[in-house]
Amino acid sequence: MTSDDAAPKPPAKDPWDLPDVSGLVIGVLGGTGDQGRGLAYRLARAGHEEIIGSRAADRARTAADELGHGVRGLDNAARARESDVIIVAVPWEGHARTLESLREELTGKLVVDCVNPLGFDKQGAYALVPEEGSAAQQAAALLPGSRVTAAFHHLSAVLLQDPAIEKIDTDVMVLGDDRADCAIVQALAGRIPGMRGVFAGRLRNAHQVESLVANLISVNRRYKAHAGVRLTDI
Ligand SMILES: NC(=O)c1ccc[n+]([C@@H]2O[C@H](COP(=O)([O-])OP(=O)(O)OC[C@H]3O[C@@H](n4cnc5c(N)ncnc54)[C@H](OP(=O)(O)O)[C@@H]3O)[C@@H](O)[C@H]2O)c1
Repeated sequence: MTSDDAAPKPPAKDPWDLPDVSGLVIGVLGGTGDQGRGLAYRLARAGHEEIIGSRAADRARTAADELGHGVRGLDNAARARESDVIIVAVPWEGHARTLESLREELTGKLVVDCVNPLGFDKQGAYALVPEEGSAAQQAAALLPGSRVTAAFHHLSAVLLQDPAIEKIDTDVMVLGDDRADCAIVQALAGRIPGMRGVFAGRLRNAHQVESLVANLISVNRRYKAHAGVRLTDI
């Protein structure tokens, strides 16, 4: 036995030890839509400087005025430049084009993709399989200079936008290839009362998380609910 074998091992890092993210400026691409407005509203209510982006600056300003809480509205490019963290909340159909057009503005930024590639037919919602594997992997391929993560897929925009709801009891599965970036996004989720950000793997496993929304839509239709996800035993 060497002296190294006998040395005590450092304690494992507490996975719930997350960074202070209270000073981060958050931008939302597609911030005039239901999901973008909802996330902007909740994060602004938690005290973040919040900027929503739109393809048209006047639409962003109108939506920001409606949301209050100091939310500002800018066009997508200006919003990307001014934010530390950018949440991508545009429809899957516009995902690739939006990101390609903002590659420069998003360089070096922490990008959080919450896009669920879904199709709808008379049997309901079903998961699409993007060529890259998932929306998040498409984002990573299109934005080689950005720090891409994926989160917030399973939240109900209805609950997020309802000012009467104080707490949203749900877990937020956070995926990414850089653990420190995931920790930032986990901490951001935790700023919203009732929510917990849980590390859920690398981006190559984003497809299952994005696809699960098709199941949640079926649950919501059957039970007339706004179902979320809770992970047990952690
Ligand atoms: N709704 C939910 O409950 C929910 C929950 C979790 C995740 N998501 C995901 O979040 C994303 C947004 O959902 P949503 O329901 O908020 O969608 P949405 O209202 O249809 O669209 C969001 C915003 O994106 C912009 N947009 C629309 N078409 C676009 C295009 N082709 N290219 C670029 N921008 C476009 C629009 O803003 P401007 O016209 O002002 O630019 C629109 O207000 C989706 O990918 C969805 O899968 C939604």
